[in-house]
Amino acid sequence: MNKVSHNLAWWQSGVIYQIYPRSFLDTTGNGVGDLQGIIDKLDYLNNGSKGSLGIDAIWISPFYPSPMADFGYDVSDYCDIHPLFGDMATFNRLIEEAHRREIKVIIDFVPNHTSDQHPWFIESRHSRHNPKRDWYIWRDAKPDGSLPNNWGSAFGGPAWTWDKKVNQFYFHHFLKEQPELNWRNPDVRAAIYEVLRFWLERGVDGFRMDVVGFLIKDEEFRDNPPNPDIPDNLPAENIYARQLHKFNEDQDEVHTIIRKFRQILDQYPDKCGIGELGYGLERWVRYYGENGNGLHLPFNFRLIHLPWETRAIIQSIQALEVILPPWAWPNYVLGNHDRPRLASRIGMNQARVAALLLLTLRGTPTMYYGDELGIKDGVIPTESIQDPQGLRLGAEYSRDVGRTPMQWNDSPNAGFSSKRPWLPVSADFTVRNVAVQNDDPTSILSLYRRLIWYRKASPALMAGRFCAVTPGNDDCLVYRREHPAGQCMIALNFSGNSHHISLSESKSGHLVLSTYLDRNETVSLTNLQLRPHEGIIIELNL
Ligand code: GLC
Repeated sequence: MNKVSHNLAWWQSGVIYQIYPRSFLDTTGNGVGDLQGIIDKLDYLNNGSKGSLGIDAIWISPFYPSPMADFGYDVSDYCDIHPLFGDMATFNRLIEEAHRREIKVIIDFVPNHTSDQHPWFIESRHSRHNPKRDWYIWRDAKPDGSLPNNWGSAFGGPAWTWDKKVNQFYFHHFLKEQPELNWRNPDVRAAIYEVLRFWLERGVDGFRMDVVGFLIKDEEFRDNPPNPDIPDNLPAENIYARQLHKFNEDQDEVHTIIRKFRQILDQYPDKCGIGELGYGLERWVRYYGENGNGLHLPFNFRLIHLPWETRAIIQSIQALEVILPPWAWPNYVLGNHDRPRLASRIGMNQARVAALLLLTLRGTPTMYYGDELGIKDGVIPTESIQDPQGLRLGAEYSRDVGRTPMQWNDSPNAGFSSKRPWLPVSADFTVRNVAVQNDDPTSILSLYRRLIWYRKASPALMAGRFCAVTPGNDDCLVYRREHPAGQCMIALNFSGNSHHISLSESKSGHLVLSTYLDRNETVSLTNLQLRPHEGIIIELNL
């Protein structure tokens, strides 16, 4: 294996691959994926050879015991495995087998809320005097009987549910089945810190921390101000989107907790804390902490949310490069289980350009399972919607479309399961699957593999400086990655037109990779040809 030596940690040099375990591989024949399924596919992910994808870490969405009201993001036991997915022995084997292949394992950590079936909440709701009462957020109705404040649930409706038994409201940013822990209570903090230690002791390498900016709410629970930019056709029940989230999230005190998470991680060698955070740049960058005492990687979702246009994207990359302190490491995400599929959003041709972008930017790339095949949004009849967000806010909000089963081969159910899968397999699975793309040297899977393995061997891509280059037209995005051991030039054509780029550089270089996977030639930078939707990597002659 031709890996380069560098001083980067694994979470800086590596590629992270998100697995939604329900949808990866079902080995028990119940239509739902499981941990054994992940073990069975580790060689596909990275067996040390260039015939495998080559990713360095997997992040697994929740596999804990859960009533599955939000498909595992409603945890009823933080320290066990849902029988659907396996048991602790399977988990231990997964860690062992992943580590044997030098694949790191990042698990989902959901500290903001539990399931309403968690024993802590069952106790808490029992009576006003229960010792766990204050573990959750309970409030009286206002004197006129109305809600404690105007906050909305991200899944529609108010964020408060009335509990008849004790005549108080409890708080939930998500479903009423996901009551929110009271992080101002030191006992709650201690209990959740123990959860982190529990999994660290079992050998996990990192945590993806769910809605970690939500942990602390305004102490007085003040009303949120209205959002002046309400999107058109917003469903009436979407109270959440009608407000600016001034008081319910991203409160300054949350950083005390993040620092504590970091201290716990730092007690073990080489661990990584990743946060799910969707704030503007100035607020977001604070989650790195001061001098690196916060998260290693606050997720950067900007490539998902921005329009797919060169200007918006280059501005965002440059803004990130400017705002990050020198010790803070960038990262980029192209898709996840909460968003429509990349190939549906920007089209198949641009999905290849996006792959090249993601894997050549400065920073840790996170990719979503199936994006390496160009899987598109699933077509799910309205009456079959499973996602609670889609069921409450309407079909266009359903996240099911991006969670359809992985497409392994053209056998029934795409080789995902012997039984009817929990969500329908996309109709194109007979032609779009791992087996077919394996044998096609120009498939998008081949492109991902080539890119990931090329990146591993390139000091410039892994560790080099990022320098934007002005391409002279709006359809193309060009940048250099500079490292003492070598320099690369990346040029990406975001359009369906051919482009001729003339960079005022006398250098020539060697084109080592095109998204078409058909070029390997010496090129002159004053005369670069880009075909429609083509992205290229050029190694520069210095
Ligand atoms: C995060 C998860 C999402 C989940 C929500 C509530 O945003 O990514 O899937 O529904 O948190 O836990």
